[in-house]
Amino acid sequence: MLSSSGTSRRSFLLTALGIAGCQLIPRTSLFSLEADPPQAVRFDATPGVPPEPFQFPKDFYWGTATAAYQIEGAWNEDGKGESVWDRFSHTVGKIKGATTGDVACDSYHRYKEDIALMKAMQLNSYRFSISWPRIQPSGTGPANRKGLEYYDRLIDALLEARIRPLPTLFHWDLPQALQDKGGWPSRDVAGWFADYSGIMAKALGDRITNWAIFNEPSIFTELGYYSGEHAPGHTDLLEFLHATHVVNLAQGQAFRAIKAARPGAKVGTAFNTTNAEPKTASDADRAAAERYHAFRSLWFIDPAVRGEYPRILADRLPPETLGVKAGDMDIAKAPLDFFGINYYDRTIVWDTNRSESLHLDSSEGQEGPRTEFGWEVWPDSFYKLLMRISRDYNSPIMEVTENGCSYGDTPDEHGRIADQRRVEFFRGYIGAVGRAIKDGANICSYHAWSLMDNFEWAEGFSQRFGFAYVDFRNQKRTLKDSGKWYGQLAATGKLA
Ligand code: FCB
Repeated sequence: MLSSSGTSRRSFLLTALGIAGCQLIPRTSLFSLEADPPQAVRFDATPGVPPEPFQFPKDFYWGTATAAYQIEGAWNEDGKGESVWDRFSHTVGKIKGATTGDVACDSYHRYKEDIALMKAMQLNSYRFSISWPRIQPSGTGPANRKGLEYYDRLIDALLEARIRPLPTLFHWDLPQALQDKGGWPSRDVAGWFADYSGIMAKALGDRITNWAIFNEPSIFTELGYYSGEHAPGHTDLLEFLHATHVVNLAQGQAFRAIKAARPGAKVGTAFNTTNAEPKTASDADRAAAERYHAFRSLWFIDPAVRGEYPRILADRLPPETLGVKAGDMDIAKAPLDFFGINYYDRTIVWDTNRSESLHLDSSEGQEGPRTEFGWEVWPDSFYKLLMRISRDYNSPIMEVTENGCSYGDTPDEHGRIADQRRVEFFRGYIGAVGRAIKDGANICSYHAWSLMDNFEWAEGFSQRFGFAYVDFRNQKRTLKDSGKWYGQLAATGKLA
């Protein structure tokens, strides 16, 4: 394993990827991991450009984001099928603390409580995900009525609370039955995913205005099929590359399936993004950073909106390596109505003089404080990424679909959770959003990750990202100071 620390999820992503002749290169030689020593966390600083006061527009959406597997629990209730995450978390050695999402936050039963929390924070948008195996237990065929009814109830309760429901159709919990048929590297999955998307649009589209198709396609393909850190835990470079292409096909097909059922729907994807910054001003490092940007941030945007993979990678990642067939790019093409932007940290990139391959050395930034996950806090990089996307894609509508931080503050003797570091984190990053809006970026929402502490994938329950503290012994939710602070911001739109 390359790294087993909590920082690994982002810090080694695509540390190096040898593409030319990739079947010949042993996996171990593809990576060169720069050591990234953890630093002490400073609590009081917003590094980079300090946030300026900003009044957000009146119609701005303030929300939080969650994902089905991370909060719902009820893993085998009401006809739900097994997902790859059920299988993975039930496999010994895959999850920190040998925990699972079997119960998680039990939101399947406690969703009303969760909506009450959002109401207490005066939020007006909620990004959640739909569990595909709850709807189609084995990934194909008719919908499971009880699964649909759960999302019906959730959506009705949100609307009653005047909160916009923003569902994501796929946040990583592939039906295990489809993994058994090859999973995302297999082209058939694209069509089945489009069928499922159409079912959802028909069933819920009378009340849903905006849909996110995928959550972070480059993370679930890479960590699922290449690094093996996430479900289904494979470590095969070609499987990973083929999966990225099939997901691009699926994105185009799902887009059309949703539009066919609901022509008025607004459809996008929540892309994971990073601001790739060259380590030095040399031409070689700059070019390496551009390649990193293309692979990490644009790999699922360009096929949709431009009908092609980023040109800068064309010689290193030729179509045959990805499994592209004639006509595929027309299938992948889809004029997304909005870009969902997930942002956690920047990446420093440098060239390694290996021109024969896409060998990219990278590390997290080293200047800012770290969250408990080890991710650097550097809000200015978020501003830069937002402005870059805005400039390069002709000012698309952007929804910030995720941004957040892990800090493990616990209740004091009065039950208060004084998580000042989280407040400072959000002040900095939301300030960056405000600055981007002021400078012309078309951003209509902000969703903090996350509403409440939850099951953090391979990290189990060891990372707390929530505005609400969850006591997993009894499922009690308590708003942290940061949740109260965010509620004030949502109520006034005024970042002081
Ligand atoms: C993102 C995921 C989300 C959560 C946060 C911390 O990459 O989309 O589910 O794990 O990171």
